[in-house]
Amino acid sequence: MKDIRNIVILSGAGISAESGIDTFRSEGGLWERHRVEDVATPEAFARDPDLVLRFYDMRRAAIQTKEPNAAHLALARLDAEWPGELLIVTQNVDNLHERAGAERVLHMHGEHLLAWCTACDTRSPWTGTLIERPPCPVCGERALRPDVVWFGEMPYRMDEIYAALREADLFVSIGTSGAVYPAAGFVRNAREMGAHTLELNLEPSKGTRWFEEARHGPATQIVPAWVDEVLSAAS
Ligand code: APR
Repeated sequence: MKDIRNIVILSGAGISAESGIDTFRSEGGLWERHRVEDVATPEAFARDPDLVLRFYDMRRAAIQTKEPNAAHLALARLDAEWPGELLIVTQNVDNLHERAGAERVLHMHGEHLLAWCTACDTRSPWTGTLIERPPCPVCGERALRPDVVWFGEMPYRMDEIYAALREADLFVSIGTSGAVYPAAGFVRNAREMGAHTLELNLEPSKGTRWFEEARHGPATQIVPAWVDEVLSAAS
């Protein structure tokens, strides 16, 4: 740990599972109950906007009733106390990292609590519903959509993410199945650039073989234990 200065953490749905937010691909997960093609593509939104808006309105309402768990809190502590560079790249569209107190967070798949106006291209904080086609607070057009990256769309801030991966000494993937690219490829990018790679997940992910080290168990147990280890080794 003495040689480690720059840390990049990739988080996925598994870190929020114990807060009561559904994952996508576990048994009974979201993509078992809804077809991706019906609710999470630009084509679906063009074909049946009411269905898509209703789906995201429900998800937006649901996340606001959830609380950060011990894994989010441990990462927030790491963010506050780690003296070197640190970036939490999350695929999650909930705000539990921020509500736990983390500041260095990048949402590569967007955020439930923002609405994107496709008329004026601004993002506005949004906690309510979009189904009734409210006007954009900036331009007044009724052209708001969830600010969530759908399948077939480009994830956000990729340049910043690749720059951080290039500089990383340690890459840690937490609670993600490794099924969705480009995030699933980050471990290889980081490793090629010389970072140590660690997986923290309930079970071996699809990409587990790419990691030099893996620890399996519930995020609320293995993440705080790992953060304690990192901070005490660094002090
Ligand atoms: N602790 C740790 N890991 C857990 C826990 C837990 N309590 N519960 C579940 N997991 C693990 C599962 O074993 C699984 O490997 O979290 C992972 C969740 O995988 P997915 O449901 O596929 O979620 P994620 O990897 O974040 O999905 C990536 O897919 O549909 C898109 O845009 C969506 O951002 C999402 C992307």
